[in-house]
Amino acid sequence: MIFELRRKYLEFFEQKNHLIYPSASLRSEDPTLFFNSAGMVQFKPYFLGATPKFAGVEGIWHRVTTAQKCLRINDIENVGRTLRHHSFFEMMGNFSFGDYFKKEAAQWAWEFLTSKEWLGLDPDRLFVTVYLDDDEAFEVWTKHVGVPAERVSRWGEDENFWPANAVSEGPNGPCGPCSEIFFDRGPQYGSADETGPNTGSGDRYIEIWNLVFTQFDRQEGGRLEPLPQKNIDTGMGFERVAAVMTDSEDAYATALFQPTIRRVAELSGKPYGGAGSLSHRVVADHLRAVTFCIADGIMPANDGAGYVVKMLLRRASRHAWLLGLREPVLWELVEQVVEAMGEAYPEIKGGQERIQGIVKAEEEQFLRTLESGIQRVGQILDQAGKGGELPGEVAFDLWQTYGFPLDLTRDLAAECGVAVDGVGFEAARERARKLSRGGRESQALFTAASDTLGGVAREHGETQFLGYEAYDANAQVLALIEGERLEQAAGEGVAVEIVLDRSPFYPEGGGQIGDAGKLEWPGGAALVTSTSRSSQGLLMHRAKIARGRIEVGQQVRAVVDPARQETQKHHTATHLLHAALRSVLGKHVAQAGSLVAPERLRFDFSHPQALTGGEVERIETLVNRWIQGDFAVDWRTVSIEEARECGAIMLFGEKYGSEVRMVTIGSEGASPSNDQGALVESAGEGSGGVDSTSVSVELCGGTHVRRTGQIGSFVVVSEEAVSAGVRRLEARVGMASLDYLHELRGTLTGLAAELGAAPADLSSRVGRLQVDLKSAQRESASLRDRLATAQAGGGSNQKQKVEEAGGFRYLSTSFDGLDSSSLRTAADNLLLQSGADLVVAGSEGLLVVKVSAEARARGAHAGNLVRELAKRAGGNGGGRPDMAQAGLKDSSRLPEALSALPEILATGVAG
Ligand code: SER
Repeated sequence: MIFELRRKYLEFFEQKNHLIYPSASLRSEDPTLFFNSAGMVQFKPYFLGATPKFAGVEGIWHRVTTAQKCLRINDIENVGRTLRHHSFFEMMGNFSFGDYFKKEAAQWAWEFLTSKEWLGLDPDRLFVTVYLDDDEAFEVWTKHVGVPAERVSRWGEDENFWPANAVSEGPNGPCGPCSEIFFDRGPQYGSADETGPNTGSGDRYIEIWNLVFTQFDRQEGGRLEPLPQKNIDTGMGFERVAAVMTDSEDAYATALFQPTIRRVAELSGKPYGGAGSLSHRVVADHLRAVTFCIADGIMPANDGAGYVVKMLLRRASRHAWLLGLREPVLWELVEQVVEAMGEAYPEIKGGQERIQGIVKAEEEQFLRTLESGIQRVGQILDQAGKGGELPGEVAFDLWQTYGFPLDLTRDLAAECGVAVDGVGFEAARERARKLSRGGRESQALFTAASDTLGGVAREHGETQFLGYEAYDANAQVLALIEGERLEQAAGEGVAVEIVLDRSPFYPEGGGQIGDAGKLEWPGGAALVTSTSRSSQGLLMHRAKIARGRIEVGQQVRAVVDPARQETQKHHTATHLLHAALRSVLGKHVAQAGSLVAPERLRFDFSHPQALTGGEVERIETLVNRWIQGDFAVDWRTVSIEEARECGAIMLFGEKYGSEVRMVTIGSEGASPSNDQGALVESAGEGSGGVDSTSVSVELCGGTHVRRTGQIGSFVVVSEEAVSAGVRRLEARVGMASLDYLHELRGTLTGLAAELGAAPADLSSRVGRLQVDLKSAQRESASLRDRLATAQAGGGSNQKQKVEEAGGFRYLSTSFDGLDSSSLRTAADNLLLQSGADLVVAGSEGLLVVKVSAEARARGAHAGNLVRELAKRAGGNGGGRPDMAQAGLKDSSRLPEALSALPEILATGVAG
């Protein structure tokens, strides 16, 4: 039911001519935000007037609807304590870019909420708010929608302007007055002071939908500039509506969170409900957020968005600890998050194992710090003494050193009767914040390491990436990070992250994995296992010192592992595959995720049904033709406008600035190096871009081969569903495709050898074997029947005497080697031949009971009888009054079951 809601919302607005567009990644493209915190974030340019054209979608769309993954941490302390707060949540929204405005937005919202066909909520339980002077909205609600005026109230900037601080302090950008719709959950949820929306402390009136009339652009300095076009941005909190629709206390009581909460209760032995349940909820909420962040590539880190992930993990870990759990458990719970959310979000399902690994490693590390941190706090609290106060500086230091959030320190201090100077903590945090780099202040969460990394970036600038052209280069070590600390040097065997001033190592991004390789210097070497980019633009080489000692300032030779050549073959092939899919299946195909590695590529895309064998072959053929065409692959940096004009495929979830890198395969003017040139013509229809002489034009930051011929060959390995409407193709190219061919051939020749046939004759050989098998099965069935008849006819070595118990004449016997159908035949024959009232026949742990019509009339019941018999010998079964059967787990107990018959008949249980 809950999960239907998401589909219904999108379907409703699709019927109102909206484009259903996928959720953007949780990672925000907006430089002022770490995360996507609302549905509108990915559409900001369109509110300001940019032409609403969408990656992978034909035409221009002024109406769009989404269900967006969001993360907000400004109210993190309230998560789990109230019905309203979640860190991760889903926001369903409908958007108008210069199209419909207040009237339609309000009417449709009302129709969706109240119509029986959609949510069917009682209109008498809905309340509406408007901004102070927004008479237009008031009119719309009361006149056009028909909401009684007494249920429409006016509120100020805090409640009815979005974003709330837009008027008084920024941020800059699209904003406007809003209307909120509230649902009255009934007096049982209320408080005495709650008389309607936005009043009192209760949860009776709950906001379920925010309709923002986005009509201003807030300028630097605070002026509200009317936008040339009027827009609509609505947001409906999925979790809240889920609670309302299921009449649940809160979202934690719904199927969204219950699997995780139940598992937490099981693991901790602390049932959910009552005191201590806050921890169940915090664990469930935070772990869900962490799972989604990691799935979107936001790794726990010491700075930026990654630090938020780390903080959420630590808070969850601490709450698990409060529940008495001393071993890592959060990683296990990822499974329950996937259970609840995986169907709608294939990225968490596909990434489950990887996410679990990352969570577990973090958890183990924190649990180690947690114990020592708790000891340290213990000493500090002893010094402070009961009734004392812990200085804010010290609390802040605990946060920086041990990763203790303030609320953890507070909890521990409270147990010793010590207060914590929260104001001093804020002041210390503010001082550190001032020292940290500018920007992103509103969500600044940082550590000493991130602060100094900021310093490194300020001093030296971003790491210069050389890897589009080079595989090795000389570079200087700018910083070394061990665990969470910056170090001046690291010795043999130590795992460190190494920051270089310039590097040919590609940092993980755009689906392409981060490079591995080695760093060498006189007397030493480090093995790099992966590379990533920090939010300051520094390239971080995750490495282990294999030999010698490395120091900050040292010169090293950075050498990328040759496997990268294979990776870039897979990356260029991914672009070809994308173009081929659009050519063979249609333009609706849009990329939904990808993985590019040295040995394979994986490509997720929107398509309603499984691909046929013919389609897969056509796609393979087209890609291989383009490979053999040996087209040039070009990349250059262009303005985003130029890229749009070229019709370049853009992907949401990717970071596009005003300058973008455009990768073109088979570019205009550049002819293929052989006579496959005509293919460009035939590829025109299927090309990614409008430039009909290109095979593909995509925005991409990854590394590629210079000519498609280098890819060698392309082979599809599998095709499957990831979720409704999203398919996944896995393919291999280059040497990996040859490996695949070798594997296949190995299987084939192995099979052929086992069957004693040449590979070319395998199919006819298997066909013959199947025919032989069928006839052997038929023969064996008829033999068994004959055996049963022979045994029942007196050929058996078992006793076949009719005896009497409980007023029934019965015959009980066992056979060798009969299956259930032959056993039934044997029992039938026996009943006929012996003239008994009932027959019990057993063979190989099977029991069959047959009862004559006459005995049935006197109350005998085969089903009851067989159940009782089986029970005596550890089995179970049942069935009709005339015929029933049972199975024993242990066939050697068959005589036990058979011998119980007279007693059961005598007690009348069989009736
Ligand atoms: N942007 C508004 C909100 O976040 C409506 O989507 O509430």
